[in-house]
Amino acid sequence: MRRSIPLSAHQAQLLEDRARQVDRDLLESIREVSQRLGCSVYVVGGGPRDLVLTGQPGDLDLVVVGDGEEFAGGLAERLGGKLRRHTRFGTARLEGLGEGLDVATARTETYDSPGALPRVEPGSLSEDLQRRDFTVNTLAIEIGQGPPYEFLDSHGSLEDLEEGHLRVLHDGSFTDDPTRILRGLRFETRLRLRLDDAAERQARAAAADGVFGALSGDRLRREVFRLLEPVGSAESRLRRLDELGLMAVLHPDLRVFREDLAWIREAAQALEALPEDTQEVEGWRLVLPVLLGRLDRAGREAIAARLELRPEDRDWLLDSRETLDRAIEVLMRPGALPHDVDRVVRPLRPEEIALLLAIDKPPVVQWTHRWLDALRAVRLSLTGQELIEAGFASGPSIGRALEATREARLDGSIGVEDELRFALEFLKSGSLEGAKA
Ligand code: CTP
Repeated sequence: MRRSIPLSAHQAQLLEDRARQVDRDLLESIREVSQRLGCSVYVVGGGPRDLVLTGQPGDLDLVVVGDGEEFAGGLAERLGGKLRRHTRFGTARLEGLGEGLDVATARTETYDSPGALPRVEPGSLSEDLQRRDFTVNTLAIEIGQGPPYEFLDSHGSLEDLEEGHLRVLHDGSFTDDPTRILRGLRFETRLRLRLDDAAERQARAAAADGVFGALSGDRLRREVFRLLEPVGSAESRLRRLDELGLMAVLHPDLRVFREDLAWIREAAQALEALPEDTQEVEGWRLVLPVLLGRLDRAGREAIAARLELRPEDRDWLLDSRETLDRAIEVLMRPGALPHDVDRVVRPLRPEEIALLLAIDKPPVVQWTHRWLDALRAVRLSLTGQELIEAGFASGPSIGRALEATREARLDGSIGVEDELRFALEFLKSGSLEGAKA
Protein backbone atom coordinates (compact mmCIF):
# COMPACT_ATOMS: atom_id res chain seq x y z
CA MET A 1 0.00 0.00 0.00
CA ARG A 2 1.37 3.37 -0.98
CA ARG A 3 0.43 6.50 0.91
CA SER A 4 1.17 10.03 -0.21
CA ILE A 5 1.52 12.57 2.57
CA PRO A 6 2.16 16.21 1.66
CA LEU A 7 5.27 17.78 3.12
CA SER A 8 4.47 20.62 5.49
CA ALA A 9 5.28 24.09 4.15
CA HIS A 10 8.25 24.13 6.54
CA GLN A 11 9.55 20.74 5.37
CA ALA A 12 9.21 21.82 1.73
CA GLN A 13 11.18 24.96 2.50
CA LEU A 14 13.93 22.96 4.25
CA LEU A 15 14.15 20.59 1.29
CA GLU A 16 14.44 23.47 -1.19
CA ASP A 17 17.02 25.23 0.97
CA ARG A 18 19.06 22.04 1.11
CA ALA A 19 18.90 21.62 -2.67
CA ARG A 20 20.03 25.24 -3.14
CA GLN A 21 23.06 24.56 -0.94
CA VAL A 22 24.13 21.90 -3.43
CA ASP A 23 23.50 24.26 -6.36
CA ARG A 24 21.34 27.37 -6.75
CA ASP A 25 19.78 25.93 -9.91
CA LEU A 26 19.58 22.28 -8.83
CA LEU A 27 15.79 21.98 -8.55
CA GLU A 28 15.09 23.81 -11.82
CA SER A 29 17.74 21.71 -13.57
CA ILE A 30 16.33 18.45 -12.23
CA ARG A 31 12.88 19.46 -13.50
CA GLU A 32 14.14 20.52 -16.89
CA VAL A 33 16.34 17.47 -17.52
CA SER A 34 13.81 14.94 -16.23
CA GLN A 35 11.04 16.40 -18.39
CA ARG A 36 13.29 16.46 -21.43
CA LEU A 37 14.32 12.82 -20.93
CA GLY A 38 10.87 11.66 -19.81
CA CYS A 39 12.09 10.12 -16.56
CA SER A 40 10.87 10.45 -12.95
CA VAL A 41 13.32 11.61 -10.29
CA TYR A 42 13.01 11.01 -6.56
CA VAL A 43 14.95 11.94 -3.45
CA VAL A 44 15.13 8.69 -1.52
CA GLY A 45 16.57 7.23 1.66
CA GLY A 46 18.53 9.23 4.23
CA GLY A 47 17.39 12.66 2.98
CA PRO A 48 13.63 12.27 3.47
CA ARG A 49 14.24 10.19 6.62
CA ASP A 50 16.33 12.92 8.23
CA LEU A 51 13.93 15.62 7.05
CA VAL A 52 11.22 13.89 9.11
CA LEU A 53 13.44 13.01 12.06
CA THR A 54 15.55 16.12 12.49
CA GLY A 55 14.37 18.67 9.93
CA GLN A 56 17.82 18.51 8.33
CA PRO A 57 17.81 16.53 5.10
CA GLY A 58 21.43 15.44 4.79
CA ASP A 59 22.50 13.96 1.46
CA LEU A 60 20.01 14.29 -1.38
CA ASP A 61 20.43 10.92 -3.08
CA LEU A 62 18.50 10.84 -6.34
CA VAL A 63 16.82 7.78 -7.83
CA VAL A 64 15.78 7.95 -11.46
CA VAL A 65 13.13 5.70 -12.98
CA GLY A 66 14.64 5.63 -16.43
CA ASP A 67 18.28 5.99 -17.36
CA GLY A 68 20.01 7.42 -14.30
CA GLU A 69 23.37 7.79 -16.00
CA GLU A 70 21.86 9.70 -18.91
CA PHE A 71 19.98 11.93 -16.47
CA ALA A 72 23.15 12.57 -14.46
CA GLY A 73 24.93 13.43 -17.73
CA GLY A 74 22.17 15.97 -18.54
CA LEU A 75 22.51 17.53 -15.07
CA ALA A 76 26.28 17.73 -15.45
CA GLU A 77 25.89 19.50 -18.79
CA ARG A 78 23.61 22.12 -17.25
CA LEU A 79 25.34 22.59 -13.91
CA GLY A 80 28.94 21.76 -14.66
CA GLY A 81 30.83 19.46 -12.32
CA LYS A 82 32.57 16.22 -12.97
CA LEU A 83 30.64 13.03 -13.62
CA ARG A 84 31.89 9.67 -12.36
CA ARG A 85 29.91 6.78 -13.76
CA HIS A 86 29.59 3.29 -12.25
CA THR A 87 27.88 1.65 -15.19
CA ARG A 88 27.75 -1.80 -13.57
CA PHE A 89 25.39 -0.43 -10.90
CA GLY A 90 23.67 2.20 -13.09
CA THR A 91 24.84 4.93 -10.74
CA ALA A 92 26.79 8.14 -11.17
CA ARG A 93 28.26 10.73 -8.89
CA LEU A 94 28.33 14.38 -9.81
CA GLU A 95 31.32 16.03 -8.19
CA GLY A 96 32.06 19.70 -7.82
CA LEU A 97 28.53 20.66 -6.70
CA GLY A 98 28.39 21.22 -2.94
CA GLU A 99 29.51 17.92 -1.37
CA GLY A 100 28.53 16.08 -4.55
CA LEU A 101 25.35 14.38 -5.66
CA ASP A 102 24.62 10.66 -6.11
CA VAL A 103 22.29 9.61 -8.88
CA ALA A 104 21.12 6.00 -9.24
CA THR A 105 18.93 4.19 -11.72
CA ALA A 106 15.97 2.57 -9.91
CA ARG A 107 16.94 -1.08 -9.74
CA THR A 108 16.28 -4.57 -8.49
CA GLU A 109 18.97 -6.56 -6.78
CA THR A 110 19.46 -10.27 -6.46
CA TYR A 111 22.06 -11.91 -4.25
CA ASP A 112 23.74 -14.97 -5.71
CA SER A 113 25.03 -15.92 -2.29
CA PRO A 114 24.74 -14.39 1.18
CA GLY A 115 27.15 -11.51 1.77
CA ALA A 116 28.11 -11.22 -1.90
CA LEU A 117 27.63 -8.01 -3.83
CA PRO A 118 24.21 -7.98 -5.51
CA ARG A 119 23.39 -8.51 -9.17
CA VAL A 120 21.65 -5.38 -10.42
CA GLU A 121 18.97 -4.72 -13.07
CA PRO A 122 16.89 -1.60 -13.84
CA GLY A 123 13.52 -1.61 -12.09
CA SER A 124 10.60 0.44 -10.83
CA LEU A 125 10.62 2.79 -7.85
CA SER A 126 8.83 0.25 -5.70
CA GLU A 127 11.36 -2.46 -6.65
CA ASP A 128 14.15 -0.07 -5.78
CA LEU A 129 12.62 0.64 -2.38
CA GLN A 130 11.85 -3.02 -1.74
CA ARG A 131 15.56 -3.96 -1.87
CA ARG A 132 16.55 -1.57 0.93
CA ASP A 133 17.62 -2.29 4.47
CA PHE A 134 15.06 -0.69 6.80
CA THR A 135 11.59 0.73 6.26
CA VAL A 136 12.73 4.13 7.55
CA ASN A 137 15.04 4.32 4.52
CA THR A 138 12.26 3.77 1.98
CA LEU A 139 10.62 7.19 2.00
CA ALA A 140 10.71 8.93 -1.37
CA ILE A 141 9.86 12.43 -2.54
CA GLU A 142 9.30 12.97 -6.23
CA ILE A 143 11.35 16.03 -6.97
CA GLY A 144 11.37 16.05 -10.78
CA GLN A 145 7.76 17.31 -10.91
CA GLY A 146 8.36 20.35 -8.74
CA PRO A 147 6.15 21.46 -5.82
CA PRO A 148 3.90 20.65 -4.08
CA TYR A 149 6.03 17.81 -2.71
CA GLU A 150 4.76 14.61 -1.13
CA PHE A 151 6.28 11.80 0.90
CA LEU A 152 5.65 8.52 -0.91
CA ASP A 153 5.41 6.05 1.93
CA SER A 154 5.06 2.50 0.70
CA HIS A 155 6.31 0.58 3.75
CA GLY A 156 4.96 2.45 6.76
CA SER A 157 8.13 4.53 7.16
CA LEU A 158 6.41 7.54 8.68
CA GLU A 159 4.80 5.42 11.37
CA ASP A 160 8.08 3.59 12.08
CA LEU A 161 9.89 6.90 12.35
CA GLU A 162 7.28 8.16 14.74
CA GLU A 163 7.48 5.03 16.88
CA GLY A 164 11.25 4.81 16.63
CA HIS A 165 11.34 1.37 14.99
CA LEU A 166 13.99 -0.06 12.70
CA ARG A 167 12.10 -2.69 10.76
CA VAL A 168 13.46 -4.82 7.91
CA LEU A 169 11.48 -5.26 4.72
CA HIS A 170 11.75 -9.02 4.45
CA ASP A 171 12.99 -11.96 6.50
CA GLY A 172 16.08 -12.58 4.40
CA SER A 173 17.39 -9.01 4.58
CA PHE A 174 20.23 -9.68 7.02
CA THR A 175 21.16 -12.91 5.28
CA ASP A 176 21.40 -11.08 1.95
CA ASP A 177 23.58 -8.45 3.52
CA PRO A 178 24.80 -8.87 7.10
CA THR A 179 26.36 -5.40 7.10
CA ARG A 180 22.76 -4.21 7.55
CA ILE A 181 22.84 -5.49 11.13
CA LEU A 182 25.79 -3.24 11.88
CA ARG A 183 24.14 -0.36 10.01
CA GLY A 184 21.09 -0.91 12.21
CA LEU A 185 23.16 -0.58 15.38
CA ARG A 186 24.67 2.59 13.97
CA PHE A 187 21.23 4.03 13.20
CA GLU A 188 20.04 3.11 16.70
CA THR A 189 22.43 5.54 18.34
CA ARG A 190 22.64 8.11 15.60
CA LEU A 191 18.93 8.40 14.90
CA ARG A 192 17.62 7.26 18.30
CA LEU A 193 15.71 4.39 16.72
CA ARG A 194 15.67 0.77 17.84
CA LEU A 195 15.64 -2.54 15.98
CA ASP A 196 12.16 -3.95 16.48
CA ASP A 197 11.72 -7.40 18.04
CA ALA A 198 11.56 -9.17 14.70
CA ALA A 199 14.71 -7.44 13.40
CA GLU A 200 16.53 -8.24 16.62
CA ARG A 201 15.52 -11.88 16.38
CA GLN A 202 16.59 -12.04 12.76
CA ALA A 203 19.91 -10.40 13.58
CA ARG A 204 20.65 -12.97 16.28
CA ALA A 205 19.57 -15.83 14.05
CA ALA A 206 21.58 -14.59 11.08
CA ALA A 207 24.68 -14.15 13.23
CA ALA A 208 24.23 -17.59 14.77
CA ASP A 209 23.94 -19.03 11.25
CA GLY A 210 27.35 -17.57 10.50
CA VAL A 211 26.26 -15.10 7.81
CA PHE A 212 29.15 -12.82 8.66
CA GLY A 213 31.50 -15.56 7.61
CA ALA A 214 30.57 -14.90 3.99
CA LEU A 215 31.40 -11.21 4.25
CA SER A 216 34.72 -10.01 2.87
CA GLY A 217 37.21 -8.61 5.36
CA ASP A 218 37.13 -5.32 3.52
CA ARG A 219 33.37 -4.84 3.93
CA LEU A 220 33.44 -6.08 7.51
CA ARG A 221 36.25 -3.65 8.41
CA ARG A 222 34.46 -0.69 6.85
CA GLU A 223 31.27 -1.40 8.78
CA VAL A 224 33.02 -2.15 12.06
CA PHE A 225 35.06 1.04 11.80
CA ARG A 226 31.94 3.06 10.96
CA LEU A 227 30.27 1.51 13.99
CA LEU A 228 33.00 2.97 16.16
CA GLU A 229 32.45 6.51 14.82
CA PRO A 230 31.91 8.88 16.42
CA VAL A 231 33.83 7.27 19.24
CA GLY A 232 31.42 8.85 21.75
CA SER A 233 28.78 6.35 20.53
CA ALA A 234 31.14 3.37 20.52
CA GLU A 235 30.37 2.25 24.06
CA SER A 236 26.61 1.93 23.54
CA ARG A 237 27.10 0.23 20.20
CA LEU A 238 29.48 -2.30 21.71
CA ARG A 239 26.90 -3.02 24.40
CA ARG A 240 24.35 -3.75 21.71
CA LEU A 241 26.79 -5.88 19.72
CA ASP A 242 27.34 -7.90 22.85
CA GLU A 243 23.62 -8.14 23.68
CA LEU A 244 22.90 -9.50 20.22
CA GLY A 245 25.70 -12.03 20.44
CA LEU A 246 27.69 -10.32 17.70
CA MET A 247 31.11 -9.87 19.28
CA ALA A 248 32.00 -13.26 17.85
CA VAL A 249 31.79 -11.65 14.42
CA LEU A 250 35.27 -10.33 15.18
CA HIS A 251 36.64 -13.25 17.16
CA PRO A 252 35.01 -16.20 18.93
CA ASP A 253 36.84 -15.40 22.19
CA LEU A 254 36.06 -11.71 22.26
CA ARG A 255 34.04 -10.62 25.31
CA VAL A 256 33.00 -7.21 26.48
CA PHE A 257 33.82 -6.42 30.11
CA ARG A 258 32.12 -3.67 32.07
CA GLU A 259 35.41 -2.06 33.09
CA ASP A 260 36.58 -2.06 29.46
CA LEU A 261 33.40 -0.26 28.42
CA ALA A 262 33.89 2.30 31.19
CA TRP A 263 37.47 2.88 30.02
CA ILE A 264 36.30 3.34 26.44
CA ARG A 265 33.53 5.73 27.51
CA GLU A 266 35.84 7.90 29.59
CA ALA A 267 38.62 7.86 27.01
CA ALA A 268 36.13 8.96 24.33
CA GLN A 269 35.22 11.93 26.54
CA ALA A 270 38.87 12.71 27.17
CA LEU A 271 39.52 12.56 23.43
CA GLU A 272 36.86 15.18 22.77
CA ALA A 273 38.47 17.48 25.30
CA LEU A 274 41.97 17.11 23.80
CA PRO A 275 43.34 20.14 22.01
CA GLU A 276 42.93 19.98 18.22
CA ASP A 277 45.55 17.76 16.73
CA THR A 278 46.61 17.52 13.14
CA GLN A 279 46.30 13.75 13.26
CA GLU A 280 42.85 12.50 12.33
CA VAL A 281 41.15 10.71 15.19
CA GLU A 282 39.82 7.22 14.43
CA GLY A 283 37.47 5.46 16.82
CA TRP A 284 38.84 1.98 16.20
CA ARG A 285 42.26 3.04 17.46
CA LEU A 286 40.76 3.83 20.83
CA VAL A 287 38.41 0.86 21.06
CA LEU A 288 40.36 -2.10 19.67
CA PRO A 289 43.44 -1.82 21.91
CA VAL A 290 41.07 -2.06 24.90
CA LEU A 291 38.90 -4.88 23.58
CA LEU A 292 41.83 -6.88 22.26
CA GLY A 293 43.89 -6.35 25.39
CA ARG A 294 42.59 -9.57 26.84
CA LEU A 295 43.41 -11.70 23.82
CA ASP A 296 46.74 -13.34 23.21
CA ARG A 297 48.82 -12.38 20.20
CA ALA A 298 47.34 -15.15 18.06
CA GLY A 299 43.84 -13.82 18.78
CA ARG A 300 44.85 -10.30 17.85
CA GLU A 301 46.51 -11.54 14.70
CA ALA A 302 43.33 -13.40 13.77
CA ILE A 303 41.27 -10.22 14.14
CA ALA A 304 43.76 -8.13 12.18
CA ALA A 305 43.66 -10.72 9.41
CA ARG A 306 39.86 -10.98 9.46
CA LEU A 307 39.57 -7.20 9.08
CA GLU A 308 42.19 -7.18 6.33
CA LEU A 309 44.00 -4.31 8.00
CA ARG A 310 46.67 -2.51 6.01
CA PRO A 311 50.12 -3.79 7.07
CA GLU A 312 50.97 -0.60 8.98
CA ASP A 313 47.62 -0.65 10.82
CA ARG A 314 48.03 -4.32 11.59
CA ASP A 315 51.47 -3.74 13.10
CA TRP A 316 50.14 -0.79 15.07
CA LEU A 317 47.25 -2.83 16.44
CA LEU A 318 49.34 -5.86 17.36
CA ASP A 319 51.71 -3.69 19.39
CA SER A 320 49.17 -1.20 20.68
CA ARG A 321 48.52 -2.82 24.03
CA GLU A 322 52.22 -3.36 24.80
CA THR A 323 52.96 0.24 23.77
CA LEU A 324 50.32 1.50 26.19
CA ASP A 325 51.41 -0.84 28.97
CA ARG A 326 55.01 0.32 28.57
CA ALA A 327 53.94 3.96 28.81
CA ILE A 328 51.80 3.21 31.86
CA GLU A 329 54.70 1.41 33.52
CA VAL A 330 57.03 4.40 33.01
CA LEU A 331 54.43 6.91 34.22
CA MET A 332 53.82 4.82 37.36
CA ARG A 333 57.53 4.64 38.21
CA PRO A 334 58.21 6.61 41.44
CA GLY A 335 61.41 8.25 40.15
CA ALA A 336 60.12 9.06 36.64
CA LEU A 337 61.52 12.27 35.17
CA PRO A 338 59.80 14.49 32.60
CA HIS A 339 62.13 13.29 29.86
CA ASP A 340 61.20 9.65 30.59
CA VAL A 341 57.56 10.61 30.25
CA ASP A 342 58.13 12.56 27.06
CA ARG A 343 59.97 9.65 25.50
CA VAL A 344 57.01 7.27 25.91
CA VAL A 345 54.12 9.70 25.42
CA ARG A 346 55.34 11.75 22.45
CA PRO A 347 55.11 8.88 19.91
CA LEU A 348 51.53 8.10 20.91
CA ARG A 349 48.47 8.94 18.84
CA PRO A 350 45.67 11.09 20.33
CA GLU A 351 43.48 8.01 20.86
CA GLU A 352 46.22 6.41 22.99
CA ILE A 353 46.77 9.59 24.95
CA ALA A 354 43.03 9.67 25.67
CA LEU A 355 43.27 6.11 27.02
CA LEU A 356 46.05 7.22 29.38
CA LEU A 357 43.92 10.16 30.55
CA ALA A 358 41.01 7.84 31.31
CA ILE A 359 42.86 5.11 33.17
CA ASP A 360 42.19 4.52 36.83
CA LYS A 361 45.81 5.25 37.88
CA PRO A 362 46.29 8.81 39.22
CA PRO A 363 50.03 9.16 38.45
CA VAL A 364 49.42 8.19 34.81
CA VAL A 365 46.63 10.73 34.49
CA GLN A 366 48.67 13.47 36.17
CA TRP A 367 51.76 12.89 34.05
CA THR A 368 49.70 12.80 30.87
CA HIS A 369 48.07 16.12 31.74
CA ARG A 370 51.45 17.61 32.52
CA TRP A 371 52.82 16.35 29.22
CA LEU A 372 49.87 17.89 27.33
CA ASP A 373 49.93 21.19 29.21
CA ALA A 374 53.66 21.83 29.34
CA LEU A 375 56.13 19.18 28.27
CA ARG A 376 54.93 18.70 24.74
CA ALA A 377 55.51 22.37 23.96
CA VAL A 378 59.21 22.26 24.97
CA ARG A 379 61.23 23.04 21.86
CA LEU A 380 64.95 23.60 21.58
CA SER A 381 66.04 26.94 20.24
CA LEU A 382 69.44 25.37 19.55
CA THR A 383 70.03 23.83 16.12
CA GLY A 384 72.49 21.21 14.90
CA GLN A 385 73.92 23.81 12.53
CA GLU A 386 75.10 25.91 15.51
CA LEU A 387 77.00 22.89 16.87
CA ILE A 388 78.64 22.27 13.51
CA GLU A 389 79.60 25.94 13.29
CA ALA A 390 81.17 25.57 16.77
CA GLY A 391 83.56 23.02 15.26
CA PHE A 392 81.92 19.61 15.64
CA ALA A 393 81.62 17.31 12.65
CA SER A 394 78.11 16.52 11.47
CA GLY A 395 77.00 13.00 12.33
CA PRO A 396 74.96 11.03 14.86
CA SER A 397 76.73 12.65 17.84
CA ILE A 398 75.08 15.98 16.93
CA GLY A 399 71.67 14.30 17.13
CA ARG A 400 72.56 12.74 20.48
CA ALA A 401 73.71 16.11 21.84
CA LEU A 402 70.46 17.75 20.76
CA GLU A 403 68.45 14.96 22.33
CA ALA A 404 70.39 15.18 25.62
CA THR A 405 69.91 18.96 25.63
CA ARG A 406 66.20 18.58 25.05
CA GLU A 407 65.96 16.11 27.91
CA ALA A 408 67.79 18.51 30.22
CA ARG A 409 65.34 21.26 29.19
CA LEU A 410 62.38 18.98 29.83
CA ASP A 411 63.71 18.09 33.28
CA GLY A 412 64.27 21.79 34.03
CA SER A 413 67.97 21.26 34.79
CA ILE A 414 68.88 23.93 32.21
CA GLY A 415 67.07 26.97 30.78
CA VAL A 416 66.81 27.99 27.15
CA GLU A 417 69.87 30.26 27.57
CA ASP A 418 72.01 27.27 28.63
CA GLU A 419 71.30 25.06 25.62
CA LEU A 420 74.45 25.85 23.60
CA ARG A 421 76.78 25.55 26.60
CA PHE A 422 75.17 22.27 27.68
CA ALA A 423 75.33 20.73 24.20
CA LEU A 424 78.96 21.75 23.71
CA GLU A 425 79.92 20.21 27.05
CA PHE A 426 78.05 17.05 26.11
CA LEU A 427 79.93 16.83 22.81
CA LYS A 428 83.32 17.57 24.41
CA SER A 429 82.85 14.95 27.14
CA GLY A 430 81.75 12.50 24.45
CA SER A 431 84.90 13.11 22.39
CA LEU A 432 87.07 12.86 25.53
CA GLU A 433 85.54 9.49 26.32
CA GLY A 434 86.09 8.55 22.67
CA ALA A 435 89.79 9.58 22.96
CA LYS A 436 90.26 7.59 26.22
CA ALA A 437 88.71 4.49 24.66
N1 CTP B 1 21.36 0.33 1.77
C1 CTP B 1 20.97 -0.96 2.00
N2 CTP B 1 21.86 -1.89 2.45
C2 CTP B 1 23.15 -1.53 2.68
C3 CTP B 1 23.57 -0.21 2.45
C4 CTP B 1 22.63 0.71 2.00
O1 CTP B 1 19.80 -1.30 1.81
N3 CTP B 1 24.01 -2.43 3.13
C5 CTP B 1 20.36 1.31 1.28
C6 CTP B 1 19.67 2.03 2.42
O2 CTP B 1 18.30 1.95 2.26
C7 CTP B 1 20.12 3.45 2.35
C8 CTP B 1 20.63 3.61 0.92
O3 CTP B 1 20.99 2.31 0.49
O4 CTP B 1 19.09 4.37 2.63
C9 CTP B 1 21.81 4.56 0.82
O5 CTP B 1 22.89 4.10 1.64
P1 CTP B 1 23.75 5.07 2.51
O6 CTP B 1 23.97 6.33 1.81
O7 CTP B 1 24.91 4.29 3.02
O8 CTP B 1 22.82 5.27 3.79
P2 CTP B 1 21.87 6.40 4.28
O9 CTP B 1 20.59 5.76 4.70
O10 CTP B 1 21.78 7.52 3.30
O11 CTP B 1 22.55 6.81 5.62
P3 CTP B 1 23.62 7.91 5.89
O12 CTP B 1 22.79 9.01 6.45
O13 CTP B 1 24.54 7.21 6.85
O14 CTP B 1 24.28 8.24 4.57
